[in-house]
Amino acid sequence: MDFDVIVIGSGPGGYIAAIRCAQLGMKTAIIEKYPTLGGTCLNVGCIPSKALLDSSEHYFNAAHTFAQHGIAIKDMQVDFAQMIKRKQEVVDQTTKGVEFLMNKNKITVHQGVGSFVDKNTVKVTAADGKTQQITGKNIIIATGSKPASLPSMPIDKKRVITSTEALKLPEIPKHMIVIGAGVIGAELGSVYARLGAKVSFVEFAGAMIPTMDGTMGKELQKAVRKLGAEFYFNHKVTSVENKGDKVLVKADNTKGGQNLELEGDYCLVSIGRRPYTDGLGLENAGLKADERGRITVNDHMQTEVPHIYAIGDVIRGAMLAHKAEEEGVFVAETIAGQHPHINYLLIPNVVYTWPEVAGVGYTEEELKAKGTPYRAGSFPFKALGRARASMDTDGLVKVLAHAETDEILGVHMIGPRTADMIAEAVVAMEFRAAAEDIGMMSHAHPTYTEAFKEACLVASGKGALNI
Ligand code: FAD
Ligand code: NAI
Repeated sequence: MDFDVIVIGSGPGGYIAAIRCAQLGMKTAIIEKYPTLGGTCLNVGCIPSKALLDSSEHYFNAAHTFAQHGIAIKDMQVDFAQMIKRKQEVVDQTTKGVEFLMNKNKITVHQGVGSFVDKNTVKVTAADGKTQQITGKNIIIATGSKPASLPSMPIDKKRVITSTEALKLPEIPKHMIVIGAGVIGAELGSVYARLGAKVSFVEFAGAMIPTMDGTMGKELQKAVRKLGAEFYFNHKVTSVENKGDKVLVKADNTKGGQNLELEGDYCLVSIGRRPYTDGLGLENAGLKADERGRITVNDHMQTEVPHIYAIGDVIRGAMLAHKAEEEGVFVAETIAGQHPHINYLLIPNVVYTWPEVAGVGYTEEELKAKGTPYRAGSFPFKALGRARASMDTDGLVKVLAHAETDEILGVHMIGPRTADMIAEAVVAMEFRAAAEDIGMMSHAHPTYTEAFKEACLVASGKGALNI
């Protein structure tokens, strides 16, 4: 065999798996079909979206909150081309960083589409058509996902777009219709609403980010509404039509109300993502994708062919970069004969809107459905000195603790910097802390983290100190 491990796909799942394999002494190769490494996350996902979220947030604050801080700016303008350019620079630096890491760890990088020839052989087809075959004792499939679409909303990448195009639009839309008020819709919808676009969300469910704790969706909607966005919940899109420089979206009201017709200049389709295995030649390795396009794996992330593993967006579970990374490490350590573990319940979920939304563990809806006795404790940011100082008073922290043992079962936050704050909740839950434990720990004053301590005090039955 040429390699101990061949990794197909260089996203956060693939490149982290390759690094850990190399660190554990395995001769490792990685295959990536695009010219840059880093996958969806670094090229057209996590990193560029956060770059635009940060830029647009700066603009929004300069336009709307600086005056209250006593800062007057005259003749302020958005240089959207510069915003997109800076975003690309951040992406380029980040993907080059992955290249550096591949070199540092002596991982062989093959540029081209990887497809199975048999259970141990992968053909790499480069952009110029040249092919090469390499063999591996173990193969890790980390081919990720692509935006989902429906025949009723054909993507033309110009007016009817996915997140990929929304990260490099030639102009700020006048009216962006966003189909799906999930994570991508909330984040990229916020970017354009902050930059002055009218944004209309058409969502099948009854709330924003419907898979997260219900309180989060309600609070997020209030915040996004302040950006001028409008919402059409319980609407099923029936057609999206490109009409030159306009887009016409039609949707049926699933609650029997009036049907919807909206005209905008761009329509962002953000209705989920589907696992990506096109061109991978799974059948040549004796594998096939399930009805949802996912590769089936067991608890060791092994496919039906034991030396072929799969990780990240292409398998079951949340489509998150840090979940893919954990699985990458897991598989590398499994191949090396170790016994790693992933606690999927404690993989946090974050939405990088402002206020940010973050959650870990069970939602309140899940605890109710399971019949678990729990106590909920909430603390609003408006009661926090730190939040008043920075004018970030929207949102709250909600802690769900077991009614008898006080163990923290779920933490859901919407507010300033909750994307970072949720890490404390993950640590607490990993060590099976009681809400009271956190309530007894010193949290620096004034910080946003005090909201977590206070919510824990409420959940433990002791009561908040500052409300
Ligand atoms: P991917 O990152 O999709 O990488 C797969 C790679 O495999 C790609 O580079 C692809 O070109 C390559 N590939 C596919 N087939 C082949 C083949 N046959 N041969 C060679 N190469 C192949 N997640 C978060 O946790 N936080 C966020 O803030 C976040 N923001 C996001 C924002 C957006 C707009 C989007 C779209 C996604 C975001 N995600 C975020 C999700 C995150 O990007 C994915 O969960 C993550 O990238 C999955 O990693 P992966 O390694 O499984 O696959
Ligand atoms: P999503 O699953 O978060 O949201 C899709 C939304 O579209 C849902 O609310 C759903 O009810 C709605 N929907 C589905 N079909 C519809 C229809 N026909 N009409 C109207 N609404 C419809 O998926 P999204 O936002 O596309 O993101 C894809 C994945 O990318 C997510 O799984 C997420 O994990 C990942 N991601 C993560 C981010 C983060 O961690 N911050 C940021 C962006 C994406």
